[in-house]
Amino acid sequence: MDTQNLMEKIVALCKRRGFIYPGSEIYGGLAGTWDYGPAGSLMKKNLKDLWWKEMVQVRDDVVGMDSAIMMNPKAWEASGHLEAFTDPLVECKICHQRFRQDKQAEIEEHERTHKDQKVEWTEAKQFNLLVKAYLGVVEGKQSEIFLRGEITNGVQVNFKNILDSTRVRIPFGVAQIGKAFRNEITPGNFTFRSREFEQMELQFYIKSDPEEGKKWFDYWKEERMNWYTSLGIKKENLRFKDHEKLSHYAKAATDIEYQTPWGWDELMGIHNRGDWDLKRHGEFSGQDLKYRDPFTGEEYLPWDIETSAGVDRSFLFFLIDAYTEEDGRVLLKLNPKLAPFRAAVFPLLANKPELVEKARKIYLDLKQNFMIAWDERGNIGKRYAAQDEVGTPYCITVDFQTLEDDTVTIRDRDSAKQERVKISDITSAIR
Ligand code: GAP
Repeated sequence: MDTQNLMEKIVALCKRRGFIYPGSEIYGGLAGTWDYGPAGSLMKKNLKDLWWKEMVQVRDDVVGMDSAIMMNPKAWEASGHLEAFTDPLVECKICHQRFRQDKQAEIEEHERTHKDQKVEWTEAKQFNLLVKAYLGVVEGKQSEIFLRGEITNGVQVNFKNILDSTRVRIPFGVAQIGKAFRNEITPGNFTFRSREFEQMELQFYIKSDPEEGKKWFDYWKEERMNWYTSLGIKKENLRFKDHEKLSHYAKAATDIEYQTPWGWDELMGIHNRGDWDLKRHGEFSGQDLKYRDPFTGEEYLPWDIETSAGVDRSFLFFLIDAYTEEDGRVLLKLNPKLAPFRAAVFPLLANKPELVEKARKIYLDLKQNFMIAWDERGNIGKRYAAQDEVGTPYCITVDFQTLEDDTVTIRDRDSAKQERVKISDITSAIR
């Protein structure tokens, strides 16, 4: 399957099955925004819950946070984003479309659209990606603020609050999931580069020491890589790629890249931010953000090893990786923990009240513990096909035998094989 074709199929499947719709579509859309539909919002929640469980719930050295999207603008001055959160922008002198100078493939693709003309570009200028907003009710006195360009700084500015209100000791981490906004010059590749997106980040504070920095950097690289493969992304589709050009805050940075239909591209980053954030926020706020070691009394600004992943990019790559065409079927071989629905329940025939009633009871009971889909439309083959495309691992059918012996058929998504199971055993079978 050619890559263009694959992305078109995935975008179409996402719309058809309620995963992702173009943002504000009835008004012609809004570039770089996407809406997650009924299936998409379930899968996105599963993804975030699994990350949170792994990062916060089962660990005893990480706490969670949920900070405000809008921050005092001084925070963005301190973080360096007002000055350095930029991409190099160039404009095509023929059609005035704007592009990122550092995205060579996109530049070349655009040049090809002007067939016989030689494209000339303007000098690159640094374009700031922070999205501006205005806060306040009195016109003329509203203050200009910025929607957060990364979710990191809501954690950094609360470093002292976290120390004072919990029992954390270095090394410890603070995890957060939330929206970020960037005025991307060229949003594209479906949700890959959006202007509104979500991040899942861990700020892991350690002793300010290069050896500790290297140890924890390597540790988190492996942890994050293992998380993606444990949830089903094929190993051969992931790799580490060190940054050649570091962000203004980083001492070291590596991306986990995914082999996308358009080539290797960034899934997430692991950064050694050193003491950049705490130092700068300390300086700009006039507050002392040092950590005091409770045993030695030593005071220092900890270093921060950050893992920063896009929720939307993770979502997209799980989907692409799971997309399968097999024996005339289209199916998403999603890990059951990620799939929007754990199972679907069908009455074999919709016009037999005794089957519908029995199936309905099973459906409502299972819903107490899992997200379960219901379908009674069309024939059973069409219902299986629809659930395959949503990635539902199991389809449970109530048929005439169910009325006699209280068993149902459970069909496995990947093998398409069916098994008869007692109603009382369904929960353990699909868990
Ligand atoms: N706090 C560090 C930070 O924000 P980043 O490399 O700029 O680092 C981290 O972003 C992750 O956020 C990326 O690896 C990607 O997964 C996601 N991300 C960044 N920009 C994005 C965009 N425009 N659309 C979707 N996801 C994006």
